[in-house]
Amino acid sequence: MERTLAIIKPDAVERGFTGKILDNIENNDLKVVALKMLHITKGEAEGFYKVHAQRPFFESLTAYMSSGVVVSAVLEGENAIKKWRDLMGATNPKDATSGTIRKEFAIDIEKNSVHGSDSPETASYEIPYFFSSLEIFSRRPTQT
Ligand code: CMP
Repeated sequence: MERTLAIIKPDAVERGFTGKILDNIENNDLKVVALKMLHITKGEAEGFYKVHAQRPFFESLTAYMSSGVVVSAVLEGENAIKKWRDLMGATNPKDATSGTIRKEFAIDIEKNSVHGSDSPETASYEIPYFFSSLEIFSRRPTQT
Protein backbone atom coordinates (compact mmCIF):
# COMPACT_ATOMS: atom_id res chain seq x y z
CA MET A 1 0.00 0.00 0.00
CA GLU A 2 1.26 3.43 -0.93
CA ARG A 3 0.01 6.98 -0.37
CA THR A 4 0.23 10.05 -2.56
CA LEU A 5 -0.93 13.65 -2.35
CA ALA A 6 -3.44 14.86 -4.92
CA ILE A 7 -4.43 18.50 -5.45
CA ILE A 8 -7.34 19.64 -7.59
CA LYS A 9 -6.07 23.04 -8.69
CA PRO A 10 -7.99 26.36 -8.79
CA ASP A 11 -8.87 26.12 -12.49
CA ALA A 12 -10.62 22.77 -11.99
CA VAL A 13 -12.35 23.68 -8.72
CA GLU A 14 -13.64 26.96 -10.21
CA ARG A 15 -15.02 25.24 -13.29
CA GLY A 16 -16.83 22.62 -11.20
CA PHE A 17 -14.76 19.52 -11.98
CA THR A 18 -14.06 18.45 -8.39
CA GLY A 19 -16.73 15.76 -8.33
CA LYS A 20 -15.75 14.31 -11.70
CA ILE A 21 -12.09 14.13 -10.70
CA LEU A 22 -12.86 12.47 -7.35
CA ASP A 23 -15.15 10.04 -9.16
CA ASN A 24 -12.31 9.16 -11.54
CA ILE A 25 -10.01 8.54 -8.56
CA GLU A 26 -12.49 6.30 -6.75
CA ASN A 27 -13.30 4.34 -9.91
CA ASN A 28 -9.64 3.48 -10.39
CA ASP A 29 -8.76 1.57 -7.24
CA LEU A 30 -7.57 4.55 -5.27
CA LYS A 31 -9.05 5.25 -1.86
CA VAL A 32 -9.53 8.83 -0.66
CA VAL A 33 -8.25 8.67 2.93
CA ALA A 34 -8.10 12.44 3.61
CA LEU A 35 -9.81 15.39 1.92
CA LYS A 36 -10.04 19.16 2.39
CA MET A 37 -10.87 22.34 0.51
CA LEU A 38 -8.68 25.35 1.21
CA HIS A 39 -7.30 28.62 -0.14
CA ILE A 40 -3.54 28.63 0.42
CA THR A 41 -1.41 31.77 0.69
CA LYS A 42 1.38 32.66 -1.73
CA GLY A 43 3.92 31.77 0.99
CA GLU A 44 2.30 28.37 1.53
CA ALA A 45 2.41 27.71 -2.23
CA GLU A 46 6.11 28.68 -2.26
CA GLY A 47 6.84 26.24 0.55
CA PHE A 48 4.93 23.47 -1.15
CA TYR A 49 6.73 23.95 -4.50
CA LYS A 50 10.15 24.82 -3.04
CA VAL A 51 11.91 22.24 -5.26
CA HIS A 52 10.92 24.47 -8.19
CA ALA A 53 12.18 27.71 -6.59
CA GLN A 54 14.86 28.26 -9.24
CA ARG A 55 12.55 27.56 -12.19
CA PRO A 56 11.41 30.46 -14.37
CA PHE A 57 7.75 29.53 -13.78
CA PHE A 58 7.99 29.53 -9.95
CA GLU A 59 6.56 33.03 -9.43
CA SER A 60 3.66 32.49 -11.77
CA LEU A 61 2.95 28.96 -10.48
CA THR A 62 2.81 30.02 -6.83
CA ALA A 63 0.67 33.09 -7.66
CA TYR A 64 -1.71 30.83 -9.54
CA MET A 65 -1.89 28.15 -6.82
CA SER A 66 -2.77 30.81 -4.25
CA SER A 67 -5.29 32.57 -6.54
CA GLY A 68 -8.28 30.42 -5.62
CA VAL A 69 -9.62 27.42 -3.76
CA VAL A 70 -7.94 24.03 -4.12
CA VAL A 71 -9.05 20.58 -2.98
CA SER A 72 -6.30 18.42 -1.56
CA ALA A 73 -6.53 14.72 -0.84
CA VAL A 74 -4.45 11.79 0.29
CA LEU A 75 -4.94 8.78 -1.95
CA GLU A 76 -4.07 5.25 -0.90
CA GLY A 77 -3.66 2.10 -2.96
CA GLU A 78 -1.22 -0.24 -4.60
CA ASN A 79 1.30 1.85 -6.58
CA ALA A 80 -0.79 4.92 -5.74
CA ILE A 81 1.88 7.37 -6.89
CA LYS A 82 2.19 5.95 -10.41
CA LYS A 83 -1.50 5.14 -10.66
CA TRP A 84 -2.47 8.74 -9.87
CA ARG A 85 0.16 10.17 -12.23
CA ASP A 86 -1.10 7.89 -15.01
CA LEU A 87 -4.68 9.07 -14.41
CA MET A 88 -3.54 12.73 -14.46
CA GLY A 89 -1.59 12.46 -17.73
CA ALA A 90 1.39 14.53 -18.87
CA THR A 91 2.12 17.88 -17.19
CA ASN A 92 1.40 19.72 -20.42
CA PRO A 93 -2.14 18.89 -21.58
CA LYS A 94 -0.91 19.14 -25.18
CA ASP A 95 1.18 16.02 -24.52
CA ALA A 96 -1.42 14.17 -22.42
CA THR A 97 -2.97 10.94 -23.62
CA SER A 98 -6.67 11.01 -24.35
CA GLY A 99 -8.81 9.91 -21.44
CA THR A 100 -6.46 11.44 -18.85
CA ILE A 101 -7.66 14.19 -16.52
CA ARG A 102 -5.29 16.79 -17.93
CA LYS A 103 -6.27 15.96 -21.50
CA GLU A 104 -9.92 16.32 -20.60
CA PHE A 105 -9.86 19.32 -18.26
CA ALA A 106 -6.53 21.21 -18.22
CA ILE A 107 -6.24 24.67 -19.77
CA ASP A 108 -2.45 24.86 -20.20
CA ILE A 109 0.82 23.66 -18.65
CA GLU A 110 0.31 25.84 -15.56
CA LYS A 111 -3.47 25.63 -15.17
CA ASN A 112 -3.22 21.88 -15.52
CA SER A 113 -6.09 21.00 -13.16
CA VAL A 114 -4.35 18.48 -10.89
CA HIS A 115 -1.13 17.75 -9.02
CA GLY A 116 0.34 14.46 -7.79
CA SER A 117 3.46 13.54 -5.85
CA ASP A 118 6.18 12.28 -8.19
CA SER A 119 8.02 9.89 -5.80
CA PRO A 120 7.73 8.37 -2.32
CA GLU A 121 10.17 11.03 -1.04
CA THR A 122 8.04 13.82 -2.47
CA ALA A 123 4.86 12.24 -1.05
CA SER A 124 6.45 12.11 2.40
CA TYR A 125 7.03 15.89 2.21
CA GLU A 126 3.74 16.81 0.51
CA ILE A 127 1.23 14.75 2.55
CA PRO A 128 2.14 16.26 5.95
CA TYR A 129 2.30 19.71 4.29
CA PHE A 130 -1.50 19.52 4.00
CA PHE A 131 -2.62 16.91 6.54
CA SER A 132 -1.81 15.92 10.10
CA SER A 133 -1.77 12.21 10.92
CA LEU A 134 -5.10 12.68 12.74
CA GLU A 135 -6.73 13.78 9.47
CA ILE A 136 -5.81 10.61 7.54
CA PHE A 137 -8.35 7.89 8.14
CA SER A 138 -7.36 4.58 6.60
CA ARG A 139 -5.41 2.99 9.39
CA ARG A 140 -6.99 4.69 12.32
CA PRO A 141 -7.67 2.01 14.96
CA THR A 142 -11.31 1.35 15.77
CA GLN A 143 -12.42 3.71 18.51
CA THR A 144 -13.93 2.22 21.64
P1 CMP B 1 2.57 20.06 -10.95
O1 CMP B 1 2.41 18.61 -11.24
O2 CMP B 1 1.75 20.68 -9.89
O3 CMP B 1 4.12 20.33 -10.61
C1 CMP B 1 4.73 21.57 -10.82
C2 CMP B 1 3.87 22.49 -11.62
O4 CMP B 1 4.56 23.53 -12.25
C3 CMP B 1 3.25 21.73 -12.78
O5 CMP B 1 2.29 20.84 -12.31
C4 CMP B 1 2.72 22.86 -13.62
O6 CMP B 1 1.51 23.40 -13.10
C5 CMP B 1 3.84 23.86 -13.42
N1 CMP B 1 4.78 23.83 -14.53
C6 CMP B 1 5.63 22.88 -14.86
N2 CMP B 1 6.35 23.22 -15.95
C7 CMP B 1 5.92 24.43 -16.30
C8 CMP B 1 6.26 25.33 -17.32
N3 CMP B 1 7.20 25.04 -18.22
N4 CMP B 1 5.62 26.50 -17.38
C9 CMP B 1 4.66 26.80 -16.46
N5 CMP B 1 4.30 25.99 -15.45
C10 CMP B 1 4.92 24.82 -15.37
